[in-house]
Amino acid sequence: MSFVKAIIPAAGLGTRFLPITKVIPKELLPILNKPAIHYIAKELIDSEIRECCLIINKEKRLLSHYFLPTNAPLKKVLSKKKSTILDSVDYLIDHLSYSYIFQKKPLGLGDAVLLANAFVENDFFSVLLPDDIITGPVPAQKQLLDSARNKQASVIGVTRVPLEKISSYGVIDVQEQINDRLFRVRKVIEKPTVSHAPSDMAIIGRYVLDPAIFKALDLVRLRLDNSELQLTDAIEVLINQNYPVFAYLIDGDRFDIGTPTGWLQANEHFEQLAKTD
Ligand code: G1P
Repeated sequence: MSFVKAIIPAAGLGTRFLPITKVIPKELLPILNKPAIHYIAKELIDSEIRECCLIINKEKRLLSHYFLPTNAPLKKVLSKKKSTILDSVDYLIDHLSYSYIFQKKPLGLGDAVLLANAFVENDFFSVLLPDDIITGPVPAQKQLLDSARNKQASVIGVTRVPLEKISSYGVIDVQEQINDRLFRVRKVIEKPTVSHAPSDMAIIGRYVLDPAIFKALDLVRLRLDNSELQLTDAIEVLINQNYPVFAYLIDGDRFDIGTPTGWLQANEHFEQLAKTD
C-alpha cells in the first residue's frame, strides 16, 4: 500500500458563491495572489502525494490550465526580468502529476469519487475537497495519512463545530477515543438535524479511504433513484461491513472558501501569515 494518489472533486456548481461562479470556478478564486486550488496542490505535495486526479466538468476546464507549463511569451518576459514569481507554480507542476475526469451530471460527491476508481486501482487513497482550505503546523492531509498508514485503515478528518451549524456537515458517532486526536468511528450521518446529531464532530473535506469504498459506493447507488450519491453513506456501509474507520481531529485553521464570508476570512488569515513570514 503506497497511499500516493489523491482525488480532488471539483465539479461542484458553486451555487453558494454565485454570481461570480457563473464564470469563474470557485477553485480559481484568489487567496491573496494564488487560486484556492494552488493551496490544495501544495498540501498534497507536502503530504507526499505524487498523483492527483481532478473531477471536473466542462465549465471547469480552466482549472487544468493552471497546471500547464507557462506559455512561451510570458516565460520570455519573466526570464528577462529574472522574475521568480511563477516558481511556486512550477514547483506544483514538477512535483505532482495531474489528470482529469469529467463528471457529466452533478450526481454528488460519492459519484465524483466513484468516477476515479480506475485511477486509484487497489490502494488506499486521499480525497481533498477544495472548498476546505486548512492551515496548520502540519499539512492536514499528512496528519490523516500518518494515522492511516499506522492503522492501515480509513481515516476521515473532523473538526468540532457549534451545534447550530452541524446540519451542514457529515457527523461522526465516536465508538472509542484512541488518543488526543484519533477516534474509532461507530457511525457517520450526512447532514443530520441538530436533534439527530450524534456529536459535534463534523467531517471536513479530508479523507484517506480504503479502496473497498468503491464497492460500497456501488451498493449505495443501487438503493438510489436519481438523487445525489453521498460519500458519507458509503463510509457508513464500510463500517457496517466491519472495515475499521477512524476520525482524526485536524490540528489547524479551516476556511470554507465556498462562501464569500469564508473566502474573505481565508484571505485575511493568509495576509496575516504573509506579514509574519
Ligand atoms: C460534503 C460532505 C460532508 C462534509 C462537507 C465538508 O458536503 O458530504 O459530509 O461534512 O463536504 O465540507 P457538501 O459541503 O459538499 O454539501
